Amino acid sequence: MLENLELLPPDSILGLSAACRADPNPDKVDLTIGIYMDERGVCPVFEAVQQAQRALVEQEISKAYLAPAGDELFNRGLQQLVLGSDSAALAAGRVSSIQTPGGCGALRIAAEVIHAAAPDARVWVSDPTWPVHIPLISSVGMPLEKYRYYDPASHGVNFDGMVEDLKNARAGDVVLLHGCCHNPCGADLSLQQWGVIADMAEQQGFMPFIDIAYQGLGDGLVEDAAGLRLLVSRLPEVIVAASCSKNLGLYRERTGATIFVCRDEANAQAILSQAAVAARRVYSMPPAHGALLAGRILTDETLGEVWRTELAAMCQRINQLRSDLRGALEKHSGLDFSFIEKEKGMFSFLGLSAEQALRLRDERSVYMLDSSRINVAGVNASNLEYLAESVASVL
Ligand code: LMR
Repeated sequence: MLENLELLPPDSILGLSAACRADPNPDKVDLTIGIYMDERGVCPVFEAVQQAQRALVEQEISKAYLAPAGDELFNRGLQQLVLGSDSAALAAGRVSSIQTPGGCGALRIAAEVIHAAAPDARVWVSDPTWPVHIPLISSVGMPLEKYRYYDPASHGVNFDGMVEDLKNARAGDVVLLHGCCHNPCGADLSLQQWGVIADMAEQQGFMPFIDIAYQGLGDGLVEDAAGLRLLVSRLPEVIVAASCSKNLGLYRERTGATIFVCRDEANAQAILSQAAVAARRVYSMPPAHGALLAGRILTDETLGEVWRTELAAMCQRINQLRSDLRGALEKHSGLDFSFIEKEKGMFSFLGLSAEQALRLRDERSVYMLDSSRINVAGVNASNLEYLAESVASVL
């Protein structure tokens, strides 16, 4: 029976990343997958992670399973990081969370729980959104609707279009929002716009579902969570999918959590039991290593300080790269690329056609997604001029 299955095309992100790895051109530039790369083009291990890892190796006495809900210290630390240690919802005990295999696991468990609670719920996703949102959520059985988000002409958020589309979201629907550093476009909502979304959620009764995978890589840990915290402060129910892949550099350790902000403590515990059963059904127990490291870092003052300093430097470097890239592109093309400096996090759409992106790959070994999404953190001093000159050559 297996011979009936066809060979599938490569993943739109992973496939291009693999193609770049296989390219022998020494001048190749990899702007495909969203991982942070330093000046040497290496995705580094945080010093705080190395310290936590050394301590863990010394002290770990068992590799027995974690519970389906994962490590308690990690869950507590991540709740505080995302919601803020002064969160009223946390103080009221109306928050629960489950450790998951990365942000994808968090999205999946959230989708499973939402589907159990409201089988007819529609999930509204931004147009565009991270391509993996679509199969991750729809494979649970929930229909997806799109709301306008990115305006290619202004390179910013089409907020009027977003509001107009979300007027059709009804009570019992779910609206998936990017907490910060929108993937793929880098254009974020202002705090005032988050307030409008909170008003609409209150009036229409839809529930926000926030994917926050880049906290700390836009403006800072607190600033990047401001919109999310505003919604949590105003609404009875919010679900958050959080990831430690980028801000702790734990990509391959698959470290994330689904955080449920519920109406009351009893409901938070009921939802957690549902999430644990969903996890048992899908993968049983989460992987331990990354969460044991993150739990230590997020709850230990000294380690936490080492980590926050490293993350702030990373964030600052990305923002510097944005301004360097803008300068180099404008110099080589004579066109306006000021939007790159206004966006947040790792991603930006350069505004090229799929054909231009393909030419860049074929003629210059410059790899970006077909949509012209680039990972700004793949730029460095040694590839900047080549990249900008290459982009200008296809414009
Ligand atoms: C990306 O968008 O490139 C990252 O989130 C990595 C991935 O899994 O797609």
